[in-house]
Amino acid sequence: MTDFKITVIEGHHTLSSEMAFVLFELDRLFFPTPWGLESWELLFHEHDRYLITLSTDNIVVGFCLFDKAIGDSFSHLLKILVHPDYRSIGLAFKLLSKAEEDLRVLGCSEFFLEVEESNYAAQKLYQNIGFQIIHRKKDFYGLNRSALIMTKGITPTNKSHS
Ligand SMILES: CC(C)(COP(=O)(O)OP(=O)(O)OC[C@H]1O[C@@H](n2cnc3c(N)ncnc32)[C@H](O)[C@@H]1OP(=O)(O)O)[C@@H](O)C(=O)NCCC(=O)NCCS
Repeated sequence: MTDFKITVIEGHHTLSSEMAFVLFELDRLFFPTPWGLESWELLFHEHDRYLITLSTDNIVVGFCLFDKAIGDSFSHLLKILVHPDYRSIGLAFKLLSKAEEDLRVLGCSEFFLEVEESNYAAQKLYQNIGFQIIHRKKDFYGLNRSALIMTKGITPTNKSHS
């Protein structure tokens, strides 16, 4: 069975330019709404973020990225990706579970994300981990490309964030 190594980078960190490029390439090739290289190079610049990478044989095959400085205890999932060769074996679930565990320790208890309505694999993953759909944003990603907003841990009693 393949061994996978998880690496966590969080806070106001710096990312090596090599790692920034690796993430940029994975994102460019396999993410539905990729970012430009500069966004990866400035990933932790003025942002309080949490990044996990998953690698095997020193090759990054997946990652998950959160913004954790929105509000007091909010964490926003910005991206999660697993290389197509390694999908459907639970790796994204493993990444998200580890991220949630760490983020809770760091004080985040409320999580939200946007996912494209047509991205069934991602929605299944998020539902498996306990996220619920709370809203649909029409044309969020472009014409006829709506987003679903999903949250976890947000209850009416602590819904005071703006
Ligand atoms: C979404 C993504 C990260 C999932 O990674 P993964 O490692 O394959 O995920 P997991 O194996 O942990 O779980 C995926 C779940 O989706 C299910 N699934 C896979 N393809 C599916 C599809 N086309 N329709 C519905 N469910 C699907 C799997 O069966 C699994 O659910 P199960 O455990 O109940 O069987 C991966 O598909 C990916 O990188 N996609 C491109 C980037 C992306 O879209 N990111 C999310 C943007 S919001």
